Amino acid sequence: MGTDNEPGRGDRVAPPSGFVGSANVTAGIREEFAEEGVEAWARAADLLDWDREYETVLRDDGGLEWFADGRLNAAANCLDRHLEERKNRVALRWEGATGDARTYTYLDLHREVNEAAAALRDLGVEADDVVTTYLPNVPELVVTMLACARLGALHNVVFAGFSADELAARLRRTESGYLVTCDGYYRRGNAVNQLTTADNARMAVDHAVETVVVGRLDDGVYLSDDHRRYEDLLDGHRGETVAPVARDATDPLFVIYTSGTTGEPSRVTHTTGGYLAHVAWTGHSVLDIKPTDTHWCAADAAWITGHSYMVYAPLALGATTLLYEGAPDQPAKDRLWGLVERHRVDTFYTASTAVRAFMKWGEEYPASHDLSSLRLLGMVGEPIDPRAWNWYRDHVGRRECPVVDTWWQTETGGVLVSTVPGVDDMKPGSAGPAVPGVDVAAVDREGDPVAEGDPGHLAVTTPWPGMSRSLAREAGGAGDDWLYVTSDRAVVDGDGYVTFLGREDDTVTVGNTAFGPATLESAVIETDGVAEAAVVESSERGGTAVAYVCTERGRSGDAAMRERIADHVAERLGPTARFGAIVFTPDLPKTHSGKIMRRLLGAIADGEEYGDTSALRNPETVGEIETVVDDG
Ligand code: WTA
Repeated sequence: MGTDNEPGRGDRVAPPSGFVGSANVTAGIREEFAEEGVEAWARAADLLDWDREYETVLRDDGGLEWFADGRLNAAANCLDRHLEERKNRVALRWEGATGDARTYTYLDLHREVNEAAAALRDLGVEADDVVTTYLPNVPELVVTMLACARLGALHNVVFAGFSADELAARLRRTESGYLVTCDGYYRRGNAVNQLTTADNARMAVDHAVETVVVGRLDDGVYLSDDHRRYEDLLDGHRGETVAPVARDATDPLFVIYTSGTTGEPSRVTHTTGGYLAHVAWTGHSVLDIKPTDTHWCAADAAWITGHSYMVYAPLALGATTLLYEGAPDQPAKDRLWGLVERHRVDTFYTASTAVRAFMKWGEEYPASHDLSSLRLLGMVGEPIDPRAWNWYRDHVGRRECPVVDTWWQTETGGVLVSTVPGVDDMKPGSAGPAVPGVDVAAVDREGDPVAEGDPGHLAVTTPWPGMSRSLAREAGGAGDDWLYVTSDRAVVDGDGYVTFLGREDDTVTVGNTAFGPATLESAVIETDGVAEAAVVESSERGGTAVAYVCTERGRSGDAAMRERIADHVAERLGPTARFGAIVFTPDLPKTHSGKIMRRLLGAIADGEEYGDTSALRNPETVGEIETVVDDG
């Protein structure tokens, strides 16, 4: 079975013994959760400092309330409480897109967050107001998020690459009267004028939006009277402190929109107590973050992954968090590994699609750096095939790091499915069992369990602290009947390990069989010389499937390769598993959060309009793919 690339079918891999001995969470944790039931989540709450202790772990008062009656402030948990022990330890390291760098100790970050909170308060920001940010990965983004949390205001982080329309829609829908943006920033070496886009968005909303501008370029971008300079505002509040506002555990901490590869983005609101406890606990138990660690979540802070595992979890745990601006292949394809080496990164977390991109670029990039500081590797965002999983473990993790493939969603707040790295065996290509305290099942559309080993929708059958406010409301009063059915297709094996097959909307039918895209794509990727693949259905091409394929560096996508892929897929999945077309492309279109835009690939295959591509990290790739499709 060793070389089998079928998801979840690889050999079991035991956690490395060197890791197990010093893991935050050790054997027995699953049993403890099973014995204690919902009370076991007190462990998560115990990682935080509470202004008022909670009364019950979980109360059902028509809506679910985690840590009911408890009061706390998220920013105080991420900063103030660490000052006594580690004020001179680094809280935040930053590397900008042009090689500039900054370091903030806990004391520095505490100071700037207080000044920013004082400035925002002066502008009129109060508890429960929504402050929108429109910034790239710069320290001021983290500062603003925490300044909002300090005031009990909600942040609404909008991805910097989004269009004016997307920003306007988010300002409007949250009735947000405050915007923190910047003059501009560098994207792939070019200066982008962010302020003009932000102003266009402001003009498109009916209400007034007080606007603060961070000087990122400082190259004479014109500021009008209704722009306030971030630096000037903070200068007016140097050394000021703002008392953190104690919030109810169930009070909102922030709003965020789902990344939306399919359909309309929807708004999700997370709580202060349940969310923070959940991300701190999973940061501790799944990502194994220690206060002495440098943790790097190589994502955009605008994505929920950035909120949970770049900002809140590592800072709540008192670790050093690394933030980088720019792209993993700029200025060169070893950028990330240079960062790992320079900052002695301990725990590294990235998108599954990024892992496949690293594999495509080649093993020489990680090999050219000293990655010996790495202790744990994680990923999130899409199903991963065993070959890429093993590549990550071998070439980035030197076979010494556990690999956690974590499944979760914007709505879940934090990780729900993953191995516990110091406890559970890993199965390459399978995310693993639900985390302790959480139960999942594969169910049919009606929510009834499917037979063991059959594909179904992944459902979460127990509540968890990081659940969004609307899920908590929905689950209230439903008792044990409640379950959360996702549109992710998955198989749960006899050990409770979950293998994801892709999203329901992405299901592809070939030869009368409906496949999850992950099953087809893993079979394609298993072919020697293939690095990445996306398979979509094409109605134009007689309801057949089209495979978009990226080859490994130095391998060419030619007729022979096409034949090998077709043969291999037929051998693996049956002779009727034939594609209508195999299209070679240098890259696949991905969202900023690293998800393949299969919907867009389907539209290209069908020659349909695909609309706005500003949600893409690599919009240039769309034209390249169209050219290939048209030529073919
Ligand atoms: C997908 C990201 C397979 C899934 C934190 C989910 C995954 C959606 C995995 C949520 C994984 C996330 N294996 N699929 N390990 N992790 N997904 O809201 O389809 O941006 O529903 O949150 O990503 O994406 P979102």
